[in-house]
Amino acid sequence: MTFDVGRVRAAYPALADGYAYLDGAAGTQLPVTVIDAIGDAYRAGLGNAGGAFPASARAGQITERCREAVADLVGGEPAGVVLGPNMTTLTYRIAAALAGTWAAGDEVVVSRLDHDANVRPWVQAARRAGASVRWAEVDPATGELPAAQYASLVTERTRLVAVTAASNAIGTRPDVAAITGLARQAGALSYVDGVHATPHGPVDIGTLGADFYVTSAYKWSGPHIGAVIADPALLGSLRPDKLLPSPDTVPERFELGTPAFADLAGVAAAVDHLAGLDDSATGSRRERILASMAAAERHEQELFGTLLGGLDGMRHVTSYGKAARRTATAYFTVAGMTPQRVAEHLASRRVNVWNGHNYAWELTGALGIRDSGCAVRAGLVHYNDVSDVSRLLEAVAELG
Ligand SMILES: Cc1ncc(COP(=O)(O)O)c(C=O)c1O
Repeated sequence: MTFDVGRVRAAYPALADGYAYLDGAAGTQLPVTVIDAIGDAYRAGLGNAGGAFPASARAGQITERCREAVADLVGGEPAGVVLGPNMTTLTYRIAAALAGTWAAGDEVVVSRLDHDANVRPWVQAARRAGASVRWAEVDPATGELPAAQYASLVTERTRLVAVTAASNAIGTRPDVAAITGLARQAGALSYVDGVHATPHGPVDIGTLGADFYVTSAYKWSGPHIGAVIADPALLGSLRPDKLLPSPDTVPERFELGTPAFADLAGVAAAVDHLAGLDDSATGSRRERILASMAAAERHEQELFGTLLGGLDGMRHVTSYGKAARRTATAYFTVAGMTPQRVAEHLASRRVNVWNGHNYAWELTGALGIRDSGCAVRAGLVHYNDVSDVSRLLEAVAELG
């Protein structure tokens, strides 16, 4: 397993601008192969799908290849890949379809670790259906979401358990397999938010036990496209609202309007890019993805050790989250300064970070920092290197 971060960085034109891009958790930069795939799709002539002429056939092929690529990325089936503009839109869509099968007295379980996009759509859908909501709590001292609590949260009335595979604020990776296992035993479905987890390591939806897994390509070097992956038979059992003349097949039944075809070409190119992060990886694309993402994870975790060690050594810094398993995502405050001011100082040192709640609304409430501007998030992805981390640490040290 090899990971040559210099080679990886060279694939990303934007990284040449001299900034340390530690904002990957809010969206990654694009490698040139992805940018070209999008441009090439337009250059070749692109029609709407379903017509009798070649430019239309190309749109259909792009869509098929995109489904195959996303399926390879997460271990799903192409026929179970629903494509859409982003995770939030898709989650509202699935929530509306599922809630149509709920009745008064049913229950859904959400967590305070989750991004609001895997909370509010379920809370609102439950309210409309007369179902009640039960909350899984985070331990504020560690940032863990203990799986054991689901044994009492999930009952025979539970219809859905929504949980994240990784927190976009503090990186916590809960024991998703244990949680989805409890859901399944009770006859409930699980909806796993993989938006933050997918870029940080290998994903296998079967191992996670996720009935639905959702991801967004712009977090893993692709364009702004989201995907929900599920068993095609499960998708076939649901009847989302749709236009009368639009296809009633699965997964098309869940897709509204004309897709962003050129972006779909970019998604497939992004998956190919991820498959090549470890250039010694061999075998099928799925096998190369698993090897490459494992190599990328090791690289990120090694850098993260340096980043956290540096922050922990500064007395003016408070870090949030100490989960045993977490992505390389730091969330911290600096004594006497608002997170906004810290982010502005870092920007003046050419370091890109986010500040605020990052839509981790319940979590920042549970941590007691929501009313004080929350914290600063510095996240690593596969293209970050030690110079990015050093620049961040030097700039934060200046504030002591
Ligand atoms: C963990 C997590 N879930 C959901 C979302 C929402 O994703 P999208 O922007 O694709 O709607 C985000 C976006 O930051 C996220 O980090």
